[in-house]
Amino acid sequence: MADNCPFHEEKTASFFVDPVAGLWHCFGCGAGGDVFSFLEQIEGISFAEAGERLAEQCGLTWRTGRGEQAQAQRSKLLRRAVKLTAEHFSANLHRPSGRPALNYLRERGFSDDIVRDFGLGFAVDSWDDLLKFLASKGISVEHMREAGLVKRGERGSDYDVFRNRIIFPITDAAGAVIGFGGRAMDPEEPAKYLNSPDTPLFNKRQHLYGLAQARQELVAQKRAIVVEGYTDVLALHQAGLKAVVATLGTSMTREHLRLLRRYVDEVILCFDADAAGMAAALRNIELFEGSNLEVRVMVLPEGTDPDEFVSDEGADRFEELAQQAVDLVEYRLKMLFRQYRNQGSDALARAARDAVDVLRRVPDRTRREEFLVRAADRWGRGQPQRVASMQAALRMELQRRASRQRSSSGRRSGRWDRSFISETIAAQTEAGSSALAELEKELLSAALESSEWAEQIFSAVRPNDFQVAEHRAVAETVAACLESDQEYNPQQIPQQFSEQEGTYQLARELLLAEPPGDLSRELVAAAIRKLRKHRLVSGLREEYELQTEDELGAAEEERVEDFQKLQQRISRLVESGELTHDHPDYQRYLRVMTSFHGKGQFDFLEHPSAISADTDSQIPGDVHDQPSDREPKDEGS
Ligand code: UTP
Ligand code: MN
Repeated sequence: MADNCPFHEEKTASFFVDPVAGLWHCFGCGAGGDVFSFLEQIEGISFAEAGERLAEQCGLTWRTGRGEQAQAQRSKLLRRAVKLTAEHFSANLHRPSGRPALNYLRERGFSDDIVRDFGLGFAVDSWDDLLKFLASKGISVEHMREAGLVKRGERGSDYDVFRNRIIFPITDAAGAVIGFGGRAMDPEEPAKYLNSPDTPLFNKRQHLYGLAQARQELVAQKRAIVVEGYTDVLALHQAGLKAVVATLGTSMTREHLRLLRRYVDEVILCFDADAAGMAAALRNIELFEGSNLEVRVMVLPEGTDPDEFVSDEGADRFEELAQQAVDLVEYRLKMLFRQYRNQGSDALARAARDAVDVLRRVPDRTRREEFLVRAADRWGRGQPQRVASMQAALRMELQRRASRQRSSSGRRSGRWDRSFISETIAAQTEAGSSALAELEKELLSAALESSEWAEQIFSAVRPNDFQVAEHRAVAETVAACLESDQEYNPQQIPQQFSEQEGTYQLARELLLAEPPGDLSRELVAAAIRKLRKHRLVSGLREEYELQTEDELGAAEEERVEDFQKLQQRISRLVESGELTHDHPDYQRYLRVMTSFHGKGQFDFLEHPSAISADTDSQIPGDVHDQPSDREPKDEGS
């Protein structure tokens, strides 16, 4: 009944197919879906393509709505455009004009095999080389633009996006090119790397560089190393470390984790400890905790990237460091405690409070307890007295927060009554918006003081929390700077507003202002709390719902935990042979899966006619226990 799962390596079969419902699920790795998503995932193709292929196999015509059809048609055209482009770039590398680029790659030590396996190429130093080439292949300029290959200038003429750059084609999991990264050949060029913009084919928040080349090794090792650079992937690959992918100039997203979850159980982040990617990972612990993946952090010596490290020290040394990777939560706690080293007498209490902020985001109780114990050990550094006090402080603080949350969620489940809401809002408005505005200013001037302050502030509040429009604008810019790969430089922030006199003045003022004399962690923490409270209340006003990230996070955690329990129950039913199609747990599971896998894909469950047949045959294993508005057909196809 069960098979080995094609999406992860396993010894005991945990891959189940329900032919009646047309669904599959792996209880080992959590992958699951319908016949369409099965093909999508195993072949790395789109829903429409999966539909087409399935229909073809069954001798049917896959008829989609006119909109969908147009979209499928367009996506086909765009795919052709980027494929032709990749071929063109690759051919360029082996033409005389590409000689310097090829030499550059060779000097950096990349082998011809790597150049071939990753389809590396070269965009020549011309405004219209690609444009002309694609035009000669019958691609319209509109499609070139839509594929992110060509841009329209201010004077209305179109020009190549990638010029004089080494090209790294970005593919989907199946190896079809969907976008490009380009590294400037000219060291004077301000944008060292340029990536394709988001297009209907490519989204940097959803795709990972090198996935197609890594896929097999990921499944074999069940472990992915995630790096930040194209060249890091190439160098590690060349050194024989092939279970490696890279983000594409963004921090890790939920989509990235979901994608990796299809292949691996464990992810090792190999990010520059001082850069934005790591800061974002440390900020978004709940994202990683909720991913059903073990996420660890490996640290390279300061100032080296994986490419340099593996070239200098070799694959074995790299693997050694990977083995020593520590859990993301533990790493976060270690960083946190480092701040409190040699601080005054109340450092313990403050460290405990901050550490609990981290621990609270670990939904799994056992794991949380493990981290707590290890955190206390780390804090104590071998002194039993210190270890014991930290353990006690952490437990107390956790309990305090839990009871606080209980009381507030009790209120929530008792449903907000109108009087409570209006009272709260009244109290808040009374407190006066001018006080709030002052506070916002203080926070911003602290954020413009140092990257530490900025990180701390923006890990707790969002730019949108700022109520004064100009403050919000500055906050957005600061947050964007933190997210970017550039080093944080507050001095440059006012310049960003050179067009807006008012905001420019404000930003300069904030930058030059003496930071409040009593600028302290406490002050900033208190200000953050106030702002968050305000956000809470304004959220209430809008939706009668708590809007803090914490609350949303908690709800999601509950849902995930709930679903995991459901899966376990079904697993047991399967094992004992008691699972039936109409078992309530299974029915619930179907519903969850349906919503989980998104709209559209499961439409055919409700509307079998969504797959329109030109012949009398039917898709084998199709769902027939649903009412169909089609005429009954002969069985026996
Ligand atoms: P790095 O600046 O660390 O470059 O950017 P690198 O990978 O070490 O490249 P080499 O060794 O100098 O050739 C790391 C990643 O950050 C993104 C790219 O995805 C790059 O691979 N990045 C960097 C950008 O998107 N834009 C930039 O201007 C710079
Ligand atoms: Mn590098």
